[in-house]
Amino acid sequence: QKGNYDHYMQKEIHEQPESLTTTMRGRLIHGGSKVKGVLLGGLKDHLRTIRRSRRILFIGCGTSYHAGLATRALVEELSGVPVTMELASDLLDRRGPVYREDTAIFVSQSGETADTLEALEYAKSCGALCVGVTNTVGSAIARGTHCGVHINAGCEIGVASTKAYTSQIAAMTMMALALGEDTLSSCSRREAIIDDLINLPDKVREVLKLDNDMKELAKELMEEQSLLVFGRGYNYATALEGALKVKEVALMHSEGILAGEMKHGPLALVDENLPIIVVATRDATCIKQQSVIQQLQARKGRLIVMCTKGDANLMCPNGSYRFIEVPQLQDCLQPIINIVPFQLLAYHLTVLRGFNVDQPRNLAKSVTIS
Ligand code: M6R
Repeated sequence: QKGNYDHYMQKEIHEQPESLTTTMRGRLIHGGSKVKGVLLGGLKDHLRTIRRSRRILFIGCGTSYHAGLATRALVEELSGVPVTMELASDLLDRRGPVYREDTAIFVSQSGETADTLEALEYAKSCGALCVGVTNTVGSAIARGTHCGVHINAGCEIGVASTKAYTSQIAAMTMMALALGEDTLSSCSRREAIIDDLINLPDKVREVLKLDNDMKELAKELMEEQSLLVFGRGYNYATALEGALKVKEVALMHSEGILAGEMKHGPLALVDENLPIIVVATRDATCIKQQSVIQQLQARKGRLIVMCTKGDANLMCPNGSYRFIEVPQLQDCLQPIINIVPFQLLAYHLTVLRGFNVDQPRNLAKSVTIS
């Protein structure tokens, strides 16, 4: 089943061009020579209700929560509805207010995660419209929600979620496009995103070519105690998810940090030894990330900069860094590209450190007890 690969995680990372293609298959509507929109069969009868919601809540755990975070800004931009992020366990701990006028979107690869499932029962009891985004047809969350989207990423066996994460983002991007389709003013933005969705599998193929570079980086970092990852905007999710990958499989402490919070504490950790990856690919926040890089450099930070291909000199004119250069897509799709080098890095670190890649210590693929 692993084919030519040594581990399921490795196979699933490299399968992403195909899993993303499957996620989009049959869902992009052609009009003349161009793709004009998206069709999500499980949602089409509920789009009007969602657009009229007072608020959208994204609810999930771990990687699935991060996928929601990666698409939050686009859903807000295209639907005009505010989006609140909820970790399922925290929503339950607080019994946070959920209203009949809310749409609650439950994101779960397995569709069986206990906290997410309990949060679904809670939101239903509050009268909210409940939408499922799952990878498992017939799962408890798929069955228990009013409507939803299957991400169709194919079976994911490695405990560390990789291809499900990128397919979740692709599926929720399509959901955002469907929510925005009645708005004329966002037409060209939506068309540009659709064009890049079509390009996505090839761009992922391109970024997978960084495999050897990530192996070399893993050799450099394998003895480290800790790794920080700074991101912002669409790539705050990349920072959290990249750090989670390294932590859960390579058993190395790693922390994803919102770069805007750097001066409010994390800056104190910076010295010439602690490795820091800064995600600074081209988007509206990139100038701010440039300034973060300069400030880290002034503290002699040991920087690894992820930037758009060809931007290395621009981002760091002094040039004394290690770079991870990735292809560019529309800002909202960039997290799909940017997470791939982190997945590869986490994989190689784990192999080099001699840990179990597919079944990390103490973890289960599906957390069915809260
Ligand atoms: O099946 P789910 O997506 O609901 O699982 C939620 C988390 O347990 C899961 O995403 C976890 O964080 C990942 N396995 C980490 O890679």
